[in-house]
Amino acid sequence: MDKLVIDGGVPLAGEVRISGAKNAALPLMCAALLTDEPLRLENVPQLRDVSTMLRLLGQMGVAVSLDERAGVEMRADAIASPVASYDLVKTMRASILVLGPLLARCGEARVSLPGGCAIGLRPVDLHIKGLEAMGAQISVEEGYIVARSGRLKGARIVMDLVTVTGTENLMMAACLAEGTTVLENAAREPEVLDLARCLAAMGARISGAGSDIITIDGAARLSGARHRIMPDRIETGTYLVAAAATGGRVRLLGADAMLLDAVLEKLRESGARIDAEGDAISLEMGGRPKSVSVRTAPYPAFPTDMQAQFMALNAIAEGAAVITETIFENRFMHALEMQRLGADIEISGNTAVVRGVPRLQGATVMATDLRASASLVIAGLAAEGRTTVDRIYHLDRGYECIEEKLARLGARIRRAH
Ligand code: EPU
Repeated sequence: MDKLVIDGGVPLAGEVRISGAKNAALPLMCAALLTDEPLRLENVPQLRDVSTMLRLLGQMGVAVSLDERAGVEMRADAIASPVASYDLVKTMRASILVLGPLLARCGEARVSLPGGCAIGLRPVDLHIKGLEAMGAQISVEEGYIVARSGRLKGARIVMDLVTVTGTENLMMAACLAEGTTVLENAAREPEVLDLARCLAAMGARISGAGSDIITIDGAARLSGARHRIMPDRIETGTYLVAAAATGGRVRLLGADAMLLDAVLEKLRESGARIDAEGDAISLEMGGRPKSVSVRTAPYPAFPTDMQAQFMALNAIAEGAAVITETIFENRFMHALEMQRLGADIEISGNTAVVRGVPRLQGATVMATDLRASASLVIAGLAAEGRTTVDRIYHLDRGYECIEEKLARLGARIRRAH
């Protein structure tokens, strides 16, 4: 199993380019199921989750072609089999995003239940309830969500909590439904807006995406389109925190500061100087960061996908911080591993109190999920001595060429088997 070996203590310095967003790419690829014409995506990140999604679509009969310039063209001429099997779904929960498009296009779908994962239970009841409100009959048989319907019908759907992939699934399904669908308490994440823009380019009639009420007027068919995927705001935030934690100075290209208000605000509070100009974001941290308390909540508040990275920053900061996780019930697994590096963290329910120590010491740690691994890499970059981050396959799900990018910023990092 691959590991990352990091000799820490080097302030990051230099420039790197940010990739396309994983959490925008995954739903956008599923949108290809809504039309028999080609959908071409650009700025597609090369990640394990993206290849898993391509394999899943391939199993359904979608023709896929890739080019060297981060382009992917998908054509769902005919859908041979509207099934997402357990083998692939168990490795990537985002596979649930095929449910809405398959049902809308084929009138049937069989999608394995994703089950629990490291960060929490993560049920999909709101995806199912929404599709039922649009007229689908859904049952769970032998671990599969089995869905059938005639043409879906527009409905008013009020979601009782904010769900990102739930909003995306229902928005895609509604594009081919008969009549108008109104999604209330919809997720406002920028990835939802990116998907809506692509669907609009395919001929869908959507208004309100980016707000908490999205209205979709269904169409009989959608056409192909070309769409450039937005920059990855979480990858951007991760490199900024890595630079701040090592007292570095970096410039990130191909990024979008407008998507990161809450994160940039916290980095400034920790003492970083940040400048954004065009598609570049620069950060400079002189001296030891100051601790910053964060509370995760749906966009535009502070993202849960940046919580672990800020725990690493706080671990070496001056002062004490309180981190409150309100989205997932079990997203503090990185804390135990960070303690192996000498961090002082106390967990009680969904709250962590982090008392900054002047320095961490390298050790072997184990990654438990994607963002947890990123936080351990940051802690390792800031620590003295050698840190080995084990089970790095979690990291490959969401960070394109991470060791090359960090090495370009001067980090002493290599992959080992
Ligand atoms: N929830 C329900 N029922 C549902 C759906 C969600 O109870 O039917 C709960 C979840 O258990 C969770 C909360 O609602 O407690 C919010 O979950 P959400 O559905 O928004 O999460 P998601 O759509 O499964 C996406 C990202 C995650 C990110 C979350 C929150 C993708 C592919 N995944 O997940 O990204 O943490 O939104 O912003 O977009 C990551 O990239 O590391 C990652 C986990």
